[in-house]
Order: sequence, then structure tokens, then C-alpha cells
Amino acid sequence: MDLVILMASPRPKGYTSRAVDWLTDELILMGHQAEVINLAEFNILPCNGCSQCQDAQETPFCPLPDEVSLIWEKMIPADALIWAAPVYFWSLPARAKALLERSAALVTGFRDKGHHSLLAGKKLGLLATCGGPAENADQLISVFSLAGDYFQQEPLLRLVIEHTYQPDKPDFNDQVRTRYFARLLASKS
Ligand SMILES: Cc1cc2nc3c(=O)[nH]c(=O)nc-3n(C[C@H](O)[C@H](O)[C@H](O)COP(=O)(O)O)c2cc1C
Repeated sequence: MDLVILMASPRPKGYTSRAVDWLTDELILMGHQAEVINLAEFNILPCNGCSQCQDAQETPFCPLPDEVSLIWEKMIPADALIWAAPVYFWSLPARAKALLERSAALVTGFRDKGHHSLLAGKKLGLLATCGGPAENADQLISVFSLAGDYFQQEPLLRLVIEHTYQPDKPDFNDQVRTRYFARLLASKS
């Protein structure tokens, strides 16, 4: 299976990145392709709502001059998309939000009955980290679950790693849960 991990933490050596390392390590051990896309390395502008993507002849189209199309080129052929994101203000970090908004261009015909999505049928995962209790990720889960429906992806599979603020947090349990999550993501649906 070809899995793309959209790493949405701006911190290259933070807890989300550690969890992504466990996840990719387990996926590769199982013989899968796992590519991490570090969103912080890309110029991603927020959607300006022009709707030109909906009127374009060719999909995906967006007139904004940035690097989102480079990310789409990885997302569209993948079998599974895994978002790895810290909770920021009970929600998602700005870059991930901007990429979600812009990925509206991957769906056409949403004004009509029934729409077409370039992400249809792909597996969908969310690996969330948060400084507080797991409930702090509820809104984040809700956003990705609803967005997944919109993109016609499979139902969201998710893992929340909580209390990452604790100094010297013992991480063995988190690592085991993340490796199990990798197996779930890579299993046949
Ligand atoms: C701007 C900002 C907002 C945050 N908001 C929340 C929050 O609402 N709830 C929570 O539990 N943790 C919150 N946190 C903590 C992060 O979710 C947590 O430390 C996470 O593991 C950071 O991931 P990282 O180590 O990859 O940077 C916030 C952190 C930052 C920097």
C-alpha cells in the first residue's frame, strides 16, 4: 500500500514528529510505501474563495501562486492519506487548515447533486497529539471525519496521543499504540 503522511506540526523535532517516525517505521517494516510530507516545508496559501477551481475545465485547478499542487501530486495517487497534527486551540494547525481549504479544488460538482472527488475511496487516518486530555482533540476529529466524507474517502481511523506536555513522559505506551494504529491503517478494508 502507498501511504502519504501529511505532517502538520511546525516543529520538526516535536512529539508529532516522533509519533510519525514510529508510524512510518512500522509501515515500512510491513513492506508498505510511506512518504512523509512535511507541510512546514511548503508555501501553502489559504483559500481566497474565488471558486475558479469549480469552474475550471481541468481538475485540479487553483490560480493561487504557491506550492499546493506539489502536495496534490503526492496525495492523488496514494492509497491512504494520514494527517499527523497537533491540536492547536482545540482544532487544527493553520497550515493543515489551509491545505484542507485548498483541497476543495480536488472536488468538483459540489453545487450539483452528487460530486466527484479525486480522493474518493482512499483510506483516511488522523494521528493527533495534544498537550491536555484526549477530549481536546474532539473538534479536530470532527473536522477530519466530515472532510473525509466530503472527499468521499473511507471512514476516519484515528489515534490521539494525549498529555504530551508532561516532561519526561514515558512514551512506550504511545509507541505501541502508534504501531498498532499503523497496522490498522494498512489493513484491507
Ligand atoms: C499554539 C498552540 C495551541 C495549542 N492548543 C492546544 C489545545 O487547544 N489543546 C491541547 O490539549 N493542547 C494544545 N497545544 C499543545 C499541543 O497540541 C501539544 O503540545 C502537541 O503535542 C504539540 O505537538 P508537537 O510536539 O509536534 O509540536 C497547543 C500548542 C500550541 C503551540
